[in-house]
Order: sequence, then structure tokens, then C-alpha cells
Amino acid sequence: MNHTNALSDAALKYLALEDQFGAHNYHPIPVVIEKGEGVFLYDVDGKKYYDFLSGYSAVNQGHCHPAIIKTLQEQASKLTLTSRAFHNNLLGEYEKYITSYFGYDKVLPMNTGVEGGETAIKLARRWGYNIKGIPENQAKIVFAEGNFWGRTLAAISSSTDPSSYQGFGPYMPGFGLVPYDDLIALEKAFQDNTVAAFMVEPIQGEAGVVIPADGYLKGVRDLCNHYNVLFIADEIQTGLARTGKMLACDHENVRPDILILGKALSGGTLPISAVLADNEIMMQIKAGEHGSTYGGNPLACAVAMKSLEILKSEKMAENAEAMGKLLRSELAKLNSPLIKLIRGRGLLNAILINHKDPEVSWELCLHLRDQGLLAKPTHGDKIRFAPPLTINEAQILESVKMIDAALKKLSV
Ligand SMILES: Cc1ncc(COP(=O)(O)O)c(C=O)c1O
Repeated sequence: MNHTNALSDAALKYLALEDQFGAHNYHPIPVVIEKGEGVFLYDVDGKKYYDFLSGYSAVNQGHCHPAIIKTLQEQASKLTLTSRAFHNNLLGEYEKYITSYFGYDKVLPMNTGVEGGETAIKLARRWGYNIKGIPENQAKIVFAEGNFWGRTLAAISSSTDPSSYQGFGPYMPGFGLVPYDDLIALEKAFQDNTVAAFMVEPIQGEAGVVIPADGYLKGVRDLCNHYNVLFIADEIQTGLARTGKMLACDHENVRPDILILGKALSGGTLPISAVLADNEIMMQIKAGEHGSTYGGNPLACAVAMKSLEILKSEKMAENAEAMGKLLRSELAKLNSPLIKLIRGRGLLNAILINHKDPEVSWELCLHLRDQGLLAKPTHGDKIRFAPPLTINEAQILESVKMIDAALKKLSV
């Protein structure tokens, strides 16, 4: 199928510019967006779409949430960046706000999610040397197979996906892997007393919304306690009400030692990430040993506080829980032979496509686009359905009708 045959000349012009002047490190669905509002996106020809990706779960609060934009504009016209060479009047206020919100002693503010992951690993290594007593340069961090936490050299060094790591070596030493959702393998790995931490997504997002068995997170917590290993939860995609609770770890009432947040911490407006931990861990990094020019900038502080406030005041976790259930049950009612499996928690969902042709998920996303709904395949046969958390019942029902119509365009 021609990817671009449904596009206007105006849209094709933008695709040609990206093709000629931009690196080819992405393969987007051919659609050119120029406006977003709530659960909707609008293309350069004025066509309206449901956004079922939400900027990879960065836009939980909905596109251009008026209160976030108001805060952004007001703060942007006053003060945006001081660097950490000086104090600013919002950093401390934000640090107090976010640490009491999540119940940790301290926060270390960064920008992108992957920087949050790097920061968590540096903290864990320091803790490993200073507190656990691991001999110098021997600290290990264990990850789960199928993990995704970004594109830096450290992040790809823990990846099991060849398209992430192949051809970019040499890789970061000191990383180990265990199968996801396997407590027996984890316990075996923890018997090595140079292990400082286990870094894990409570639900693997990029891997295709892989949900571990009930009790897995509790089991991870217990093993980490028993073997004196830090539990690092990467909640960059699963956090901030996406799965129907403020954190995905809340589904099992477990508290990680290090919590990494990003994406929706800014409601899709700025790269803002945060690493939360208690003093025993956070105080292992001293002045001058870690940082970032933009980390903790006053614009980010103001926006993050507003983004967090809205999640609670607009009951987004509760809505995600209810709308997620409705979405999954309505999708199940379609009884489509093309859907092998529907899985998810809250509004982090995926369908697995049942077809011999691996290209069919891409084709389905093009039909979805034509119906007025935007989604993107992940790992070939999976399509994530993750709309903004402000979506309502009538909108879910309308979206499922579009999904049904798109499925019917494909041959079984
Ligand atoms: C679980 C998880 N961790 C980390 C990241 C990296 O975040 P960023 O792209 O902001 O660096 C992602 C991005 O998709 C993610 O899903």
C-alpha cells in the first residue's frame, strides 16, 4: 500500500522537507499535525483525529491543557532559566511539592526520560559503593529483557532489541539481564553481591504493553529487601495516572527505592524528568558530581507542579481506570478475527494482530488514520491504544467504531 496516497499536496510538502533535511531515524505514520486540543489532533488540512498514542504517554492531561498552557505562558514571560549556578524561586517549591506528592525525601530534576534513567543508575552505583560496600568499579545493574528506557549508549547497552543496539558498540559494562516477570531468575541474579539495583518497568510499554503476573512487583520488592538491592521503577511511561493509578506500582502497593518519572510530568509541553529517592540514596551524589543545564529550570518547575495538580484535581487516574475497562470490553465485543489479544491496564492498552503478513499492523494504522484515529505499531504485530486520560465514554465508543471500520478494510 502506498503510504502517502491519501495526503494532500500541502502535507506532502512537509514530508519532503523532513525526508531531505532530517535524519531518517524515525518512520512516522504519514500524517502532518498542526494543532492539538484535548483528545484530538488536527492535520494541516484541518482533518480531526483521535490521538491514541498521546505522544507515547506524555500527553496524559490532553493536548494543550488550558491550565498547563496558562502556567507555561505566565512563567515563560517572567523567568525560564537560571541554570543551577544560581537559585531560583520555584525550584525549592517544586521539590517540596513533588516529594510530598510521591512520598520521598528528595528529588533530582532532569529533562528527558533517558537522563532520568542514567541518573538513577549513577545513584544506584554510588549507593552500591558507599552503602552496600561493593568493591570499586564492580557494581552491577540488572534489567529485564524487553526493557526500553531510551537511546543513550547506556540505555542501548541494556537493550535486547537489535534495532536499538546493533552497530553502536562497544557497550556499557556492568549490566545484566533476566527474563521479565521471572522472580526465580531474578533471585538467582541477586545472589551476586555486586548487584546494586534492579531497574524495571512495572508494565513494559515499548515492548507492547507487557503486563507481569499479579504479585511480580511485590516479589521484586521482597527480593530487593532480602538481598539488599535497590528497586528502581521506571514509571516514565506507566506513571502519572496512565494505568488507572497514580503509579503502576500502586496496583501492588509497592514503593520502589528509586522512582523515575518523565513524559506526562509536563503534560506534553517540555522535556521534564525527575528521579525520586530517600536521603540514604540521594545524598550519595555531592555538589558538582551530576547535573544538567536545564534540569530544575523555573519554567519546568511551574509546569510540572501544574501538570501534577491537574492529574489529581481532574481525577485522571479514576477516568483512565473506567475508560480503559470500557475500551477493552468494547474492543472484545468486535470479535475481530484480526485481533489475537487485547491487553492493558487503565488507558495503556495494546492489541496483538493475528495475521501472517507482519505489515498488516502498519496497514491497519493507515486505515485507522483514514477513519480519523491515530495509532502506531510497536514491535511489528502490536498496536498501542493509549489516548489522553481525559477521554470520555462517548469518545471511546466513537473510537471503537472507527477501529471496527478500519479492521473491516483488511482481509483476514
Ligand atoms: C519506560 C520508558 N523509559 C524511558 C523512556 C525514555 O524517555 P525519553 O524518550 O524522554 O528519553 C521511555 C520512552 O519511551 C520509556 O517508555
